[in-house]
Amino acid sequence: MTRILVTGGAGYVGSHTVLVLLQEGYEVMVIDNMVNAVLEGSGGKPESLNRVEKITGKTVDFEIIDLMDLEALRRVVKTKGPFESCIHFAALKSVGESCQQPLRYYRNNGTGSINLLEVLGENNCKSIIFSSSATVYGDPQYLPLDEKHPTGSCTNPYGKTKFIMEEIMRDVCTADPEWKAIMLRYFNPVGAHASGLIGEDPLGIPNNLMPFIAQVAVGRRKALQVFGNDYDTPDGTGVRDYIHVMDLAVGHVAAVRRAKEDSFKGWKAFNLGTGKGNSVLQMVAAFEAAAGNKIAYDIVPRRSGDIATSYADCSLAATELKWTAKKTIADMCADTWRWQSGNPKGFAA
Ligand code: WQD
Repeated sequence: MTRILVTGGAGYVGSHTVLVLLQEGYEVMVIDNMVNAVLEGSGGKPESLNRVEKITGKTVDFEIIDLMDLEALRRVVKTKGPFESCIHFAALKSVGESCQQPLRYYRNNGTGSINLLEVLGENNCKSIIFSSSATVYGDPQYLPLDEKHPTGSCTNPYGKTKFIMEEIMRDVCTADPEWKAIMLRYFNPVGAHASGLIGEDPLGIPNNLMPFIAQVAVGRRKALQVFGNDYDTPDGTGVRDYIHVMDLAVGHVAAVRRAKEDSFKGWKAFNLGTGKGNSVLQMVAAFEAAAGNKIAYDIVPRRSGDIATSYADCSLAATELKWTAKKTIADMCADTWRWQSGNPKGFAA
């Protein structure tokens, strides 16, 4: 049985990816420091993973491990392996928070990832699938964004940690050709598993659009603040490439398969998006159609650091990972609504 180590696997994209790995017949070990997830449910496991086990009928190994705890990390990788590959989700991910707490982000996302790479290498697991982000492209110089677009001009510490980690992994592969590293640059992950049992459950006030809309729809928030309607876009609101989290999860398993092939060498980045852009107001309208109720919103000034438009050229993933996104905006909204309306308080009982 092929065994995969998943860091941050209790989280949103992580838990959906663990689900698909299990359904594809992989054994999975999740380590997570639980800073961004809710530890509920039986067996000392996060509720998100209890529900993944319920959906799949399979079990997941789990330990609370902080990547900053090198000894604990070393113990787990040594005793719970061997692992064919590691999918690395664990990271702090709030753009705004990273601007207030840059050192916390560089330490957690940077040093934590370096610890992981060191311990994986020591245990001969020289294969990593990295949760990167389209934010590494900064303000687009052209659209759609392809993997040749310059990276590194992102302005916030969160985005810089993603860029820096990509470069660190590139250098590790250059220094040791046995290493394989696949950077998956997500555009905007949204949606939930069709069962409605797992989904995005941000702690506190959601930073991102879709969970905020969902919380307005379920009555947890009064109204959405639309950050600016004076962008150079069809309706003046920001345009993004929203991708269903289940498509994203399938993309990670495609990357695990690609990394295993002898023909794959070294370091490579792939965009995971749909290639289509939708505006904030288009997403509001789509969600209203899915939920059957109006979403109250107010137009407010732009959020600093936001760009007008971003959407992917994902032809490289199509040719090399044999992967394309299949789900529509309507699927994303219907699945998000099923999750949020069934779990108004997220995973907290
Ligand atoms: C989308 C659009 C906002 C909230 C960020 C990170 C990226 C990734 C995804 C982690 C924009 C508008 C949003 C709200 C709004 N994160 N908006 N009101 O900023 O494209 O990307 O999240 O991996 O790395 O940069 O996503 O969902 O925050 O914003 O009007 O309450 O919705 O202005 O146009 P973003 P988002």
